Amino acid sequence: MPSAKRHVSLQSKLSETFSIYSVEIDFLDVFEPKSIKSSYDYPWKEIMLNFALVGCGRIAQRHSELLGLNQIKGARLVVACDLIESKAKKIGEQFAIPYYTDMHQMMRCEKVDVVVVLTESGNHARNVVDLARYGKHIVVEKPMALTLDDADAMIQACDKSGVKLFVVKQNRFNVPVVKLREALETGRFGKLVLGTVRVRWCRPQDYYDQAPWRGTWAMDGGVLTNQASHHVDMLEWMMGDVESVFARSTTALAKIEAEDTAVVTLKFRNGALGVIEATTATRPKDLEGSISILGEGGTVEIAGFAVNKMKTWNFVEAISGDEDVMEKYSVNPPNVYGFGHQAYYEYVVDCISNNGPHLVDGLVGRRSLELINAVYESIETGKEVYLRFRPKHCKLGGHFESTKNH
Ligand SMILES: NC(=O)c1ccc[n+]([C@@H]2O[C@H](COP(=O)([O-])OP(=O)(O)OC[C@H]3O[C@@H](n4cnc5c(N)ncnc54)[C@H](O)[C@@H]3O)[C@@H](O)[C@H]2O)c1
Repeated sequence: MPSAKRHVSLQSKLSETFSIYSVEIDFLDVFEPKSIKSSYDYPWKEIMLNFALVGCGRIAQRHSELLGLNQIKGARLVVACDLIESKAKKIGEQFAIPYYTDMHQMMRCEKVDVVVVLTESGNHARNVVDLARYGKHIVVEKPMALTLDDADAMIQACDKSGVKLFVVKQNRFNVPVVKLREALETGRFGKLVLGTVRVRWCRPQDYYDQAPWRGTWAMDGGVLTNQASHHVDMLEWMMGDVESVFARSTTALAKIEAEDTAVVTLKFRNGALGVIEATTATRPKDLEGSISILGEGGTVEIAGFAVNKMKTWNFVEAISGDEDVMEKYSVNPPNVYGFGHQAYYEYVVDCISNNGPHLVDGLVGRRSLELINAVYESIETGKEVYLRFRPKHCKLGGHFESTKNH
């Protein structure tokens, strides 16, 4: 079959966020992550940033391939670290880079510009606070932390050291999500009515049994904190500030401390309503990761298993190009992580090298963490919870001590 390359320009007039991206997609080769190549529209400042990985587990594979295989312009992987030597060694050997089992030693010995924290969620705060003292920019996987106190400590430590803190929210950079955001920012929805997200994924017991931290209150949380945190973030990003939440959860199939299934109703400050439906108890396989936004001016639904397929694009007042949106703004990623990490890293590099917009910083990460904490507060109390608030009954997260004297 001939390869049909189409050029999709994701330029939003009002969205500074994404006007810099120009994404080229080979639609017949979409199963290869490398088939999305992003580039910037304006002259690139020729800086090469040295990236270090802390944590060489499951998600490190995605990060190391992007950084280690020259997929990100202006970035390269120079060193990896894991407490477990065999894991660090595997990435070290795969990309012919040095590896360490002590991140402090790594930071002292290697020339690093950006350190990427890919450790268990409950360790993010401790690691980021410890690493900030080296004065290097930090990327941390989602969720940035489990408690608001931890998130505040991370933001303060990075501010004090004058480094940027980036929280990985790669789904914001999905091709159809960028298009949805553009429609929102150009005012096409008018008054927002209803926003909903669904995560219907399959995580059998052996997924949770891979590591003792998974599904625990102290280190992970349940489907809301782990798998659905992207969708919770996206919903709030699209719909605006949340006024209150009411939630229920259950641990239906997995033998874990936290929930594997939850439903949440939300009221937004603008008067719109919302629903979050999240489960890892879908069987026998992943079914859906989707978002729907309904306003007086139109309806958009993005479906697929990774918020990757434009399913509905209906507006009361059509504009030129609407007819092509369904076909052009869908991609088919190989797994639920999607393609967004690549565009996400390009944004990180742009932000550091060219002083580009800093969009997914610690405060943004904290905002969706506060919403997740409020949802758990409602689950525990059986009551509607109004934001802003300080959690009292939310079980998420433990307390950490910074490893001083390094
Ligand atoms: N953005 C996404 O779509 C996405 C997908 C999967 C996971 N994640 C997030 O990534 C994080 C890691 O998840 P995972 O599945 O890769 O976990 P994992 O358990 O497979 O890997 C974590 C690794 O961190 C290492 N580690 C812990 N403390 C360390 C330290 N001080 N120094 C060096 N190494 C240390 C552990 O030994 C382990 O190998 C989690 O926060 C998770 O929520 C994000």
